[in-house]
Amino acid sequence: MNANYQSGVIADANSDALFVTLNVVEGSNRAVKQALAQSQGVIDAMKQQFSGQSLHAVIAIGSEYWPQISPLKRPLLLTNFPSVEGAVEMPITPADLLLHIRSDRHDITFELATRLIALFGSHVAIAEEVSCFRYLDSRDLTGFVDGTENPQGDHKKEVALVGEEDSDFEGGSYIHLQRYVHDLPKWHAQTLKAQEDMYGRTKADNIEYSSADKPLTAHTKRTSLKDDQGQSLEILRHSMPYGTLQESGLLFASYCRTPENFTLMLKSMVEGDGQGHGDRLMQFTTAVTGQAFFAPPLTWFKELG
Ligand code: HEM
Repeated sequence: MNANYQSGVIADANSDALFVTLNVVEGSNRAVKQALAQSQGVIDAMKQQFSGQSLHAVIAIGSEYWPQISPLKRPLLLTNFPSVEGAVEMPITPADLLLHIRSDRHDITFELATRLIALFGSHVAIAEEVSCFRYLDSRDLTGFVDGTENPQGDHKKEVALVGEEDSDFEGGSYIHLQRYVHDLPKWHAQTLKAQEDMYGRTKADNIEYSSADKPLTAHTKRTSLKDDQGQSLEILRHSMPYGTLQESGLLFASYCRTPENFTLMLKSMVEGDGQGHGDRLMQFTTAVTGQAFFAPPLTWFKELG
């Protein structure tokens, strides 16, 4: 049997990505359903045309919009973006659809986005389009390597794809998206040691601090969580830097077989450990969007047709 997941969920990181969020124009649900049914054909054709450029796409449906497209069947755990309260705000800015397109050539990423947008035509309005790039050796704009502790190889599937626990949506994935705007002048005013303490990793050679050396406020301390059985809670991150000389930051994107892991991590970052230890990194960057989507398996698109 062919793999029943959208290739962009699992594929290795690329040098270029485009995240487009869309809202459906009122009265357009039927037309959008048709466009969704055709979308995988458009993606497949372009993948064949540009094979060798690692072109991948994910099309996902917003948690709030889901019932408009599929009122009878809903992924078991699909919930809205979590509301968390703490020293910093995490805004919730729902959108109906997400196109996450990536490749190793900006022109090819752009071309697939153009073709998909043409398919939806005037039935959607673009909420936001964020063009992302690999920065140096896969670093965030704060200068630290991002993605090191991501799951690797086949383990990515175990982390990111819904399994038998929800057989109607096996091969799907829960996505959380947040656009962060960095305050780089404030960041660069910190000493190297202060920056490294904030991640719990060294900057130049990307070495993890020992657990005992990590401050409770370090980003990797706050986000590396375990369940009651001592198993690591994991997500697959496809975050990438974006921006201009005037505004830049990280487009954070996580994929997971359950939305719960992201929620617990965000809570741990923002609400802290109950002893006042939140994620200090958040003093240097501001989330300006927050959305929850579900990327359905390929058969779901076929059944729409
Ligand atoms: C680790 C950057 C937001 C979850 C890291 C690392 C960097 C980084 C540089 C260390 C290397 C690595 O393992 O990838 C950022 C930046 C963020 C951000 C710049 C926002 C501006 C988030 C959010 C979450 C998250 C919102 C989840 C809610 C994680 C996890 C790890 C990690 C799970 C691996 C922790 C470990 O096991 O060591 N992040 N991150 N990050 N981040 Fe973030």
